[in-house]
This record gives sequence, structure tokens and C-alpha cells, in this order.
Amino acid sequence: MKRFREYRKDQATRDRYADVSISGEDFIYPYFIVEGEGVREPIPSMPGINRYSIDTFVEDVGEVEKLGIDKILLFGVVDDSEKDERGSKAYDPDSLICRAVRAVKAAHPKVTVITDVCLCEYTSHGHCGLLHHHDVENDATLPLLAEMAYVHAKAGADYVAPSAMMDGQIEALDRRLREAGLREKTHILSYSAKYASAYYGPFRDAADSAPSFGDRKTYQMDYRTHDQGLEEIEADIEEGADLIMVKPALPYLDIIARGVEKYPQVPMVAYQVSGEYSMIKAASQAGYLNERNIVYESLIAIKRAGAKYIISYYAKEYQQRWA
Ligand code: PBG
Ligand code: ZN
Repeated sequence: MKRFREYRKDQATRDRYADVSISGEDFIYPYFIVEGEGVREPIPSMPGINRYSIDTFVEDVGEVEKLGIDKILLFGVVDDSEKDERGSKAYDPDSLICRAVRAVKAAHPKVTVITDVCLCEYTSHGHCGLLHHHDVENDATLPLLAEMAYVHAKAGADYVAPSAMMDGQIEALDRRLREAGLREKTHILSYSAKYASAYYGPFRDAADSAPSFGDRKTYQMDYRTHDQGLEEIEADIEEGADLIMVKPALPYLDIIARGVEKYPQVPMVAYQVSGEYSMIKAASQAGYLNERNIVYESLIAIKRAGAKYIISYYAKEYQQRWA
């Protein structure tokens, strides 16, 4: 008989055998940015998460930095009146996100600033690219995503993170940043294996980016597949991605683990998405689960699968209450 229980006999022994832990540098904390001043607007489907104007956002990043979190991810939320068919506000050099990047970099230069690169928050139809006959037009979208990445890079973003799931988007961004001489300074975090998931529901409220018709299944991945996620990751690495991502996180640990095993040379990011956050939050608030324990177990599972970084709406609260 092998005496496994030796590993578990007391807390100190269990700690000694633990392979995985969580710390502030593991986290990337997302922000939703809106126009205005002094705005700190709660998002109903994501209790604890707010939309911030640039001034309150910069203030909040100061708090978050003190908590040991050194990486943030920015999403722009613009008024419907600012949206058009081509998502023009996405790649305006004075866009909301460009101004937010400049402001946060000036106030907190050591924070790593990552910007989401996608058109869905900026198009009147709410799809991630240009439309042609009610479907996204892949190749015509690429230069617009590249231009969006370029204006973010120019504003000072450390990473640009294309999330549109257009084929060739990494290559298009890589080329545009090289042309501008910005590729040394600006890195690319690719949303490589992004599944067409119902877990994005609360985010679409938060960012006001729900498609006005149809769904995203012609560009985001079908989750009933074994190997397409790995093929997407491989293509992104070939096109020049510096970091790769699997999204959502907890329901897709198999893809994270296989991606890390097959491509160990490129660090893996996992996105614990809005629905994962809201489910834990709602169940905790109802008293059905112990919030700290369920968050800890979820984050540990994501790291155990091999993710190096975790994008999580829980990052700040975790560091505040449980670190
Ligand atoms: C936009 C985008 C989405 C998310 C990140 N970027 C929504 C979507 O693709 O439908 C989801 C993040 C979350 O749910 O927390 N391309
Ligand atoms: Zn999008």
C-alpha cells in the first residue's frame, strides 16, 4: 500500500507539496472606459466591476498597482451616436482608448498596458469586422485592425490584443507595427483560440457590444472541435504573436493544457471571462458557495493547466481581500 495521505497530513505539508500558487503578477485586470469625468458606473450583470472615465480609471490603476497588479487590459465603450458601419472611432488617433493609454502611461509608467483590438465596440452593427451581405469581410477588416493597433501603439500601449478572430490578423498587425518602427516596443497578445461562447454575455452589456443581428459563429470558434484551437495557436505563433490566449478559461482547460504542452516557447494567457466572473459572484451572493474558496480553486486550476497569466475581473478583489 502506498501512503498518499502523508502528503496531506497537515497544512504545512500540503503547502510544501503544492506545485501551483497565485500572485499579483499573474493577473491582468480589465477596464471598461467611457467618456466623461468622475464616472464610476457599476455594471449590473458584473457586481463589483465599473465603467470608468479616464480620470477615475487612472486613479483606480494607482490603487490596483499598490495591490501588486502590474498589467491591465483596456476596452472602450462608446455611445451609439459615435458608432458607424466602419467603426471609425476605433482607429482615430485621438480615440477614447488612445487618450486613456496616454493618461495612464503618464501617471503610472510601470504598468503594462494592453489594449483590445476589435471593431465590435465601435460598429453600429456590433460585429467584430466590416460587413458584407450580413457576414464579416475578413480581408477588408485587416487593415482597420492594423490601424487600430498602430494608433494604440503610438499612444504608448505595451501590448495590442486583437480579439476579432479574423484570419491573418496577427500578420496584419505585425506588418503595420514594423512599418511604423514600433514593433520592438509594442508586443502582440493574440486571442488565438477564442470560442463562440455564451460566457461573454455580461461583457456585451458592459461594453454595449452585442451584435445587432445574428451571432459571432462565423468567426469565433466552434467549441465542438478538438484540434482547431491548436491550429489557431500555431498560425498565430507563425504570424508573430508574442503571447497566446485561450478564452474562456475554466471550461477550456483542455485547450490551455494542450496548447502549453505543444507550444511551450510562447507564454499562455487565459481569459476568465465575464460569465465565469458573474456566475461565481451570483452564486456567492446567494450564499450557495464560499466566494474566496471558489475563486482560489478556479484560478489555481487555470494555472495548473499551464497558463502563465490570467485575465480576471477578480484580480483586484483577490489581491484586496484574499492575497
Ligand atoms: C470583443 C470581446 C469580447 C470579449 C473580449 N473582447 C466579446 C465577444 O467577443 O463577444 C469577451 C470578454 C468577456 O466576456 O469578459 N471582441
Ligand atoms: Zn469584437
